[in-house]
Amino acid sequence: MKGFIFDLDGVIVDTAKYHYLAWKQLADQLGIPFTIQDNEKFKGVSRKRCLELLLEMGDIQVSEAQFESWLEEKNADYLKYIETMDASEILPDVSKVLNYLKDRNVPMALGSASKNAVPILKKVGLSEYFSTVVDGTQVVKAKPDPEVFLIAASRLDLLPGECVVIEDAQAGIAAANTAGMYSVGIGEAEVLYEADAVFMDFTEMQPSFLEEILRLESKPHK
Ligand code: BG6
Ligand code: MG
Repeated sequence: MKGFIFDLDGVIVDTAKYHYLAWKQLADQLGIPFTIQDNEKFKGVSRKRCLELLLEMGDIQVSEAQFESWLEEKNADYLKYIETMDASEILPDVSKVLNYLKDRNVPMALGSASKNAVPILKKVGLSEYFSTVVDGTQVVKAKPDPEVFLIAASRLDLLPGECVVIEDAQAGIAAANTAGMYSVGIGEAEVLYEADAVFMDFTEMQPSFLEEILRLESKPHK
């Protein structure tokens, strides 16, 4: 394994909770019950696809104009939550792992479904770690399609099989696996059971694990 591709929301920063709160606000307004469990399906998924899922849950059909207006409403609400974000919202031990890889000259990319990824990275001061950022403004097909990670690998000048993906979403793990990349889940093992390895958070990820995967010739067959 030669390069790392990090997801952003829920991996580097705890923005997954803000996405949830913004969707919950719209769901309440539309009278659609929406729980933390429902939100698992929204993780890693594009804004547009999330709204489609929400409307399917409520069995609501709408005009294109109404659809666009709810998309804007959700994003405006989300932007209010992230407005005041700073480095204190970087998840525990993320910086430790980024520095470990940087010190070893391991190339790193960001692969996020979010159209807000670049401003968030800047706000928390982590832009310099990533040699390339592939975000929701640059992909046509959303996770679980592997497009975002395949673009990231090619920009790092690496083969998909040489890349490790770190993800908190079921859709992201599926995308990494489809791309033939080594998938590392951050979160509950019961949710991320398709990942090659799972950690509750980065505090559980020892340097020995990173050393080991950097030595791997290829992704092991499960
Ligand atoms: C992903 C989040 O990173 O970005 C999803 O996990 C979110 O929950 C998606 O829907 C799109 O984000 P944005 O910022 O473009 O609405
Ligand atoms: Mg995520």
